[in-house]
Amino acid sequence: MLRVAVLASGRGSNLAALQAHGAQAGFGVVGVFSDKPEAGALQYARDAGIHAQAVVPGHYEDRSRFDLALFDAVMELRPELIVCAGYMRIISAPALARIPVPMINIHPSLLPLYPGLNTHVRALAAGDAEHGASVHLVTPELDGGPLIAQARVAVQPDDDAPRLAARVLEREHRLLPACVALFASGRLTLHQGQPWLDGEPLTAPLQLRGEVLVQDGPVE
Ligand code: GRF
Repeated sequence: MLRVAVLASGRGSNLAALQAHGAQAGFGVVGVFSDKPEAGALQYARDAGIHAQAVVPGHYEDRSRFDLALFDAVMELRPELIVCAGYMRIISAPALARIPVPMINIHPSLLPLYPGLNTHVRALAAGDAEHGASVHLVTPELDGGPLIAQARVAVQPDDDAPRLAARVLEREHRLLPACVALFASGRLTLHQGQPWLDGEPLTAPLQLRGEVLVQDGPVE
């Protein structure tokens, strides 16, 4: 079982999706950490009997001290992969440099489009025909690390941001566990900070088709 630590600031639906798929896919969530003591994700973890811990930024002098305390706590659980699932803070470069295991993030847009907030509103305002979600490696650049996989969703003429967000979220719940499963199986590895699949560098993000991740091909 690959040991996975999850960082989350919000409701935790992606955490629940990880938990639902983990046993079958060869990974287990060993701890959930949040900067928000009231986060739904922490409550979910407590209810599921998973280690749940808030680390509160206001209790630390600055971002780098907070990050060091957070990742000291995370690494005590000996995770082999760290997953940011709705973790809403930028992680300082020195803290990132010290983390000895891969760290991934799920972001609700087809990166490099729309890093940051309000992605669904921005995709609609741009008149995009498709939108979606991306899983990428975490680097100091906000939502800017190497891409691993994406899920695409067609924008419908009558979409508003909540409707579009809900359809994207449904795909996130498949995309994120599928990516973690690839780490768990040993097919997805890191070489000098770049994702490799089956011993080859990943030259384009994998695409979620139905329930599975596939290498480049025609879009659904
Ligand atoms: C998701 O849309 C994720 O892509 C983004 O934050 C949201 C978290 O939702 N980074 P949840 O807490 O997993 O329900």
